[in-house]
Amino acid sequence: MSSMRSKLPHVGTTIFTVMTNRARELGAINLAQGFPDFDAPGKLKDLVAYHVAAGHNQYAPMIGVAKLREQIAAKLGASYGRAPDAEKEITITLGATEAIFSTVLALVHPGDEVILFDPSYDSYEPAVILAGGTPIRIPLMPPSFTIDWQRVKDALSTKTRLVMINTPHNPVATIFRTQDLEILADLLRPTAALVLSDEVYEHMVFDGATHAGILTHAELASRGVAIFSFGKTMHATGWRVGYAVARADITREIRRVHQFNTFSIATPLQHAIADFLEAAPGHNASLAELYQRKRDLFLECLRGSRFSWKPAAGSYFQLLDFSAIAETSDVEFAERVLLEARVASIPISPFYANPPPIRALRFCFAKNDATLEEAAERLCSL
Ligand SMILES: Cc1ncc(COP(=O)(O)O)c(C=O)c1O
Repeated sequence: MSSMRSKLPHVGTTIFTVMTNRARELGAINLAQGFPDFDAPGKLKDLVAYHVAAGHNQYAPMIGVAKLREQIAAKLGASYGRAPDAEKEITITLGATEAIFSTVLALVHPGDEVILFDPSYDSYEPAVILAGGTPIRIPLMPPSFTIDWQRVKDALSTKTRLVMINTPHNPVATIFRTQDLEILADLLRPTAALVLSDEVYEHMVFDGATHAGILTHAELASRGVAIFSFGKTMHATGWRVGYAVARADITREIRRVHQFNTFSIATPLQHAIADFLEAAPGHNASLAELYQRKRDLFLECLRGSRFSWKPAAGSYFQLLDFSAIAETSDVEFAERVLLEARVASIPISPFYANPPPIRALRFCFAKNDATLEEAAERLCSL
C-alpha cells in the first residue's frame, strides 16, 4: 500500500477518459467525450502555420497576446453589450480548465464555502478542495434539472465565497434565462459572494434563445468571473486556449495564480485566433445554427427508438431518457449501450455528490452527420 497522503483522495480517472478508453477498446462510436470529430476552420489552421513560420514561437505575454485580448473585448462588446478592458479585465488561459482552476485558487481561502450545482463539471470540486474550500453541493433534480433557488438562499452564508454556475450546462444541456440571472443577483446582493460563470458553450444556444451570461447583467458582471473556451468555439479542444473576464481587482488576483500555474499560453495559437476573430466575425454566430441542425438530425434519426427526450436547450449534448428500455442505473445502462449498441455515452450520476435516481445518458452531438446517423441507428436497436 502506498504511504502517499493524497490531497485528492476521491479523485480517480475522469468518466470522460474511462468511457473514451472503453470506446476505443470496443471500436465503439464515441459520443461520450465532448469534442468534435470535425476539424477547426481551414483558415484558422493556415493562420497557425503562418504564425509558427513567422517566428511567433517564444513566450507570450503572461496576460495574453494584446491583439487577442482586444479582439475578445470587441467580441464580448458586440455579443453582450459590455466590452471589458482588454488590459485589465481579460486573461488568456490554458483552456477554460485553467481559468476555472486559477480563479478558484485565487479567490477561495481555506474555510470558505463554494456553492456548486450537481451535476457539476468534474473539475470544479477538486479545485475547491485544493484551495482549502468547502464545496456545498446543491442537486439539480431530474427530469427538469432546474435550480431550486430556495435551496440556494438557504445555503448562502457569511462563509460563502463563490457560487459556480454553468450555462449552457454540461452535462444536462439546460440554459439560464435573464430571470435566473436576476434571481441570482437578488440573492447575492446582501452577501459578499462572488460568481464563477462557466460559459464555454456560450454560442451553442438553440431555438431562438439568447445566451444569458453574467456579462449581460451589470451587477453579476461586476461580482463575477466569466470563463470561455476557444476549444469549444473553434472546434479545437486540443489547443487549450481559453480566457477569464473579471473586473480589474479580481483579475489581478487571478493573474497572480495564472503567472505561476501556466505563466502564458501557446504564442502562435493566440496570434492565429486573434487574426481569425478579426477576419471571420460571423464564425461565432454560425455555431448555434450548426449545432442545432446536428441536434435535430440526431433526434430525427432516433424517432424510431425507445428513448425519450427534451431537445437540448444549449451546449452540444443531448440527454436521452431510457426509462422505457430499462430500470437499471445510468452507469449500468451506459455499459449496456456500449456493449450492445457499440455507442459510448456518459452517465450523469457520477457528477453528483449524492445522485438521485437518473434514467438518462448524455450523448455528444458535435460529430459529423454520418457519425450521428450511424450512432442513432445503433441506438434504435435497443
Ligand atoms: C462545462 C465545461 N467547462 C469547462 C470545460 C473545459 O474547457 P477547456 O477544454 O477549454 O479546458 C468543459 C469541457 O468540456 C466543459 O464542458
